[in-house]
Amino acid sequence: MEGAEMKAIVERVREKTSIPVYERTIENVLSAILASSDPWRVVDLSEEPLPLVVAVVEALHDLGYVEFKDGIILTQKGKELVEKYGIGRREDYTCSHCQGKTVELDAFRDLLEEFKEIVKNRPEPKHEFDQAYVTPETTVARVALMHTRGDLENKEVFVLGDDDLTSIALMLSGLPKRIAVLDIDERLTKFIEKTAEEIGYSNVEIFTFDLRKPLPDYALRKFDTFITDPPETVDAVRAFVGRGIATLKGPGCAGYFGITRRESSIDKWHQIEKLLITEFNVVITDIIRNFNEYVNWGYVEETRAWKLLPIKIMPTYNWYKSYMFRIQTIEGSRGYEEEITVGQELYDDEESSTT
Ligand SMILES: [Fe+2]
Repeated sequence: MEGAEMKAIVERVREKTSIPVYERTIENVLSAILASSDPWRVVDLSEEPLPLVVAVVEALHDLGYVEFKDGIILTQKGKELVEKYGIGRREDYTCSHCQGKTVELDAFRDLLEEFKEIVKNRPEPKHEFDQAYVTPETTVARVALMHTRGDLENKEVFVLGDDDLTSIALMLSGLPKRIAVLDIDERLTKFIEKTAEEIGYSNVEIFTFDLRKPLPDYALRKFDTFITDPPETVDAVRAFVGRGIATLKGPGCAGYFGITRRESSIDKWHQIEKLLITEFNVVITDIIRNFNEYVNWGYVEETRAWKLLPIKIMPTYNWYKSYMFRIQTIEGSRGYEEEITVGQELYDDEESSTT
């Protein structure tokens, strides 16, 4: 991939952003543009964080390689560039049966129907809480995944933050011995409470709680499994996942959480993985690509992503996905029990764009 043009593009991108950029980043974005002119799809396919994709696309535009029409289109000069560097279009061969989730959703078909019916009246996502929920198929796939790993049946399960209503799917499964769920949003905890009553499920404890605060003693070291969906800064992963680990009884327990590429560069991923391995001393057993699929949220035009995009086109499909991480504790694993004092920086860094 040596060449003066590529070096010039990388230099141009570095003037626009401090997110690490490599020649491979440019290649990823060009590959994605060859496959689609839709800016959301370009972010999705390139697997680079949205603000970095925008910086690359603008650099390509400055240098005459792309033009903006109803989307991002290669110019003649751009076509010659990809030809010269041997860059092909990015293919998407995600398994069409499981959508890449790796689990058989048909096994939980009845649960899925029931879940869909219940969540019709769910509270809508709130911008102030950084909420965006996953598709019902994703929530039920989580149950399937956790069950196949032996983390649900007769286990005590903690759900930290639940705008996805995973706790409701867990109740419907009847698998856990006990479920605890907390969320900062009272609309959600009330909805979960009401649902538990309606389906007659009593082994659930529901709390309205701000996860920036240290968990109370009754939550610490009492659970076998936790699931959470942290905001995408390293500090937020430390706080939310660390709190999750702190709820676990000891070695041999498991935790689940989503980490995206849409708001995290591979450099940030490296920091997150290092945090898990060295600070928390846990083992990463699974990373399932694009397992979690998020329903487009109503406040897209208020987000940083919208402001950044050089062409304002509404997303036409669920472009925002996250990888599902599963971690397991060993002897010497530890969580995070400190108070969080940072404010909005807990939710935002340069790579984030959906807040
Ligand atoms: Fe599959």
